[in-house]
Amino acid sequence: MKLFIPGPVDVRKDLLKYMSKPLIGHRTREISDIQKRIQKNLRKIMKTNNPVVLLTGSGTSAMESSLCSLVKKKVAVFSIGAFGNRFYDIAKAHSLDVDKVFFGFGNHIEPKIFKEKLQSGLYDVITVTHNETSTGIMNDLKTLSKIWKQYPDVLVIVDSISSFGGFDLPVDDLGIDVLLTATQKSLGLPPGIAIMSLSEKVLKRLEEVEERSYYLSLRRIYKKHKENYQYPTTPNISLMMALDYQLDYIVNKEGIDNRFKRHKILANYTREWAKKHFKLFAEEKYASQTVTTIVNTKNLDLDKLSVNLKKKGYLFAHGYGPMKNKTFRIGHMADRTLKDLKKYIKEIEKSW
Ligand SMILES: Cc1ncc(COP(=O)(O)O)c(C=O)c1O
Repeated sequence: MKLFIPGPVDVRKDLLKYMSKPLIGHRTREISDIQKRIQKNLRKIMKTNNPVVLLTGSGTSAMESSLCSLVKKKVAVFSIGAFGNRFYDIAKAHSLDVDKVFFGFGNHIEPKIFKEKLQSGLYDVITVTHNETSTGIMNDLKTLSKIWKQYPDVLVIVDSISSFGGFDLPVDDLGIDVLLTATQKSLGLPPGIAIMSLSEKVLKRLEEVEERSYYLSLRRIYKKHKENYQYPTTPNISLMMALDYQLDYIVNKEGIDNRFKRHKILANYTREWAKKHFKLFAEEKYASQTVTTIVNTKNLDLDKLSVNLKKKGYLFAHGYGPMKNKTFRIGHMADRTLKDLKKYIKEIEKSW
């Protein structure tokens, strides 16, 4: 089954094989060496000198870990869809003082409103979803970063779960305090590890915030990483080994810029096709580079389409939540080739 959903994604056979290697201990020099290499390559992709730590868990664990470890005063959640809303739910679950600024499904973060909220001086942490997978909208971080850089006391958490590895996110240039992501999307690995880069300001804040969680305590995680490049609890060792292997592939075999370019080509191809036969859900300037949401202007029976595609070996993605039958999504991320994408799109055409 080929997964054309917006994550999890197809994982290359060599990677799957690599994951079946015999295990090593989590308190060994080998695992520290693996972590060092992982950090080195993630820093190259993120274009940062900040420490980069892992957390065994899905992407949500990093969302929760960063929120519960960093909010001292109040957090503003800037949401454009289901995953932005999740930050709000997490903040509530930890009884944090939180405001949600919701721009609506299909919209992007409006810089003017964003600036007004930051100007209020109420917040010491904000969250921004870079690529909202539920709608296929990518926020414009270049523009937003010009605003947040004017408020250096506010820590900026960016969720790049479905874009990191498929889109250039220069952490230092953008001034991102926590860039968080996960393995199962554009990085092209199975789910199970979340990734976070931590700025100087974050390291300082970690010392100032009371501990609200044991497993998710970023202070605890960073302390052990700093000590000997290990983790407080047993990490997902097989997946760490695969991450190490895949990052080497991205940096030294495919090339970081080539990977971003390939994602752009896939996105452009999908968009042109969508515009020819349907309509893009996103305003094109904000259309995602890793997942395209298409308005079902032909009123196709998407359940039937999904069943037909399944018979051909493809997993299809409906729209998200209330948009389930009004839109559908095509994931084009990780190690997907243009050839495979074209084949899938041909199959969709044959099935309607
Ligand atoms: C943008 C975004 N944020 C958060 C999540 C949640 O990640 P996970 O399912 O890995 O916990 C997802 C998952 O699809 C996502 O796409």
